[in-house]
Amino acid sequence: MKEIKNNSLRASDVSRTVTLYGWVQKKRDLGGVCFIDLRDRSGIVQLVARGGEVYEVASGLKSESVLKAEGTVVMRESKNPNLDTGDIEVELSSLEVLNSSRDLPFEITDDTTALEDTRLKYRYLDIRRNEIKNNLITRHKIMMAARNFLDQEDFIEIETPILCKSTPEGARDYLVPSRVNKGKFYALPQSPQLFKQLLMVGGMERYFQIAKCFRDEDLRSDRQPEFTQIDMEMSFVDEEDIMGLTEKLIAHIFKEVKGLDISLPLCRMKYDDAIRYYGSDKPDLRFGMKIMDVKDIFKHSEFQVFQNALGDDYRILCIKADGKSEEFSRKKIDLLTDFIKTYKVKGLPYVKYENKEFTSGISKFLSDDEKKKLIEELQLQDHDILFFACDHKNVVYTALGALRLKLGKDLGLIDENKYELLWVTEFLSFEWSEEEGRYLACHHPFTAPLERDVDKLLTDKAHCYSRAYDIVINGYEAGGGSIRIHDEKVQEKMFQALELSEEDIHEKFGFFVEALKYGTPPHGGLALGLDRLTMLLTGTDNIRDVIAFPKTTSASDLMSECPNIVSKKQLEELSITVTE
Ligand code: AMO
Repeated sequence: MKEIKNNSLRASDVSRTVTLYGWVQKKRDLGGVCFIDLRDRSGIVQLVARGGEVYEVASGLKSESVLKAEGTVVMRESKNPNLDTGDIEVELSSLEVLNSSRDLPFEITDDTTALEDTRLKYRYLDIRRNEIKNNLITRHKIMMAARNFLDQEDFIEIETPILCKSTPEGARDYLVPSRVNKGKFYALPQSPQLFKQLLMVGGMERYFQIAKCFRDEDLRSDRQPEFTQIDMEMSFVDEEDIMGLTEKLIAHIFKEVKGLDISLPLCRMKYDDAIRYYGSDKPDLRFGMKIMDVKDIFKHSEFQVFQNALGDDYRILCIKADGKSEEFSRKKIDLLTDFIKTYKVKGLPYVKYENKEFTSGISKFLSDDEKKKLIEELQLQDHDILFFACDHKNVVYTALGALRLKLGKDLGLIDENKYELLWVTEFLSFEWSEEEGRYLACHHPFTAPLERDVDKLLTDKAHCYSRAYDIVINGYEAGGGSIRIHDEKVQEKMFQALELSEEDIHEKFGFFVEALKYGTPPHGGLALGLDRLTMLLTGTDNIRDVIAFPKTTSASDLMSECPNIVSKKQLEELSITVTE
């Protein structure tokens, strides 16, 4: 058995005889003397083969071959301050090649230039690189910290089924055909939502699970079809209890994994304010540049575009880049205009404030009164630039929010070493779906409406707010949850609000509604996205970097080449015909 970690050897080990195992990171053959960097999971130690049989073996080594090396720890002549083991080396007495490696598809180095597709095809080699290896170790530490904390807090870890009933409300389900029940399907869970609520009905009081979830949705750099949640549910609680416990859990994870202190309680922002000031329900608070509503200033504007936006459903909004006017050439602004147009607003009026004058952009349309108000109300300073967005309220906030984020990044306003955490609360219960022509649940159909809004479930869906909360870190939705409906009558109202027919309700959720009739405690919960939390704590913006064997954006695994075509026989057994 391997007993020594390569990275553990120090000057205090000099004269010790050691047996080491690992992979050949690098070899330098100086003729008669050969230096080898031997790598294991812990790190690197230098081996020296001086003459004789060990030199013969060493000089023939190929990168990434697996070695067993025996020798004595000695002080190095020229130390390497970049290595933990840089003071010493191991003078070899014997060297055995346990397995040699063929030529590699890419070099195992920190600064690899290999294409991501190549790295994914040979993921097991990519995992040998420090970056991916360390990310997986961080992920492990987060899971351990969460498990220990929740165990201490009296939570019970319970596994819920992977083969479930398909109840599509939200993303698309992944379906699994049943061989025994021909023509019938299971669905892979989008989350353990119903089961964790049923565990509360079952009296478990505090549940958690590190749960695999599956969603057949369009992928982005922070989304995978198969991902992991730290999933929790509690009985006899309200929002305060759940947010309080979750932020303690997050603080514990940050402390254990990064040694960072998070100051609690976290700041809170209502959903409406998040949209109003940041144009996003997951605002990145690492920089300012709040959205300002300037419609009042332009009530009598001569600028046609502003005039067109004076109606109730329209907004004239603006953001200010402090002191940055000189960084925006005409060409740059044209590119920003193209960018914001992809968010369905028509243009990007702007104005610069330089040497106490409004210049360029729409400055010629500004009246003296408007100029005065802009200077005063927006506290303009020399070299500020203002970007305006005026359009229907349904698009304008999101558009300007996206521009704010882009400018934050482009102008280097974001401190990458900072963590800004907050709760976003009181989400809308419903969002209108053009595609389905009905309101859909913003969170899920089991989220309780605010007490004051219960009656709006059927009368005023557009203004019905919910007892839902998200935890947002650096502009990522790191987790979300809600207080649930525990009253069957309210639950039925909710289903009606979603325009599910009696038949639909019975067919999809009958078992669940039935359960609510047998003494359901008030309950609520939350799920943290483990992958996103790991991204945040490792500083990557690519979710694939924190998953051992991830899928590409087209939901395939390039290594095992799945999904794949299955045999006719397998399909026949399942009574499935593929039409294309
Ligand atoms: P929700 O759908 O908000 O809530 O998911 C909770 C958290 O899971 C993460 N997440 C994802 N991570 C990677 N890839 C994805 N495709 C993906 N989708 C979601 C996010 C998100 O905040 N059952 C509820 C929780 C509850 O109400 O208790 C749920 O699943 O970080």
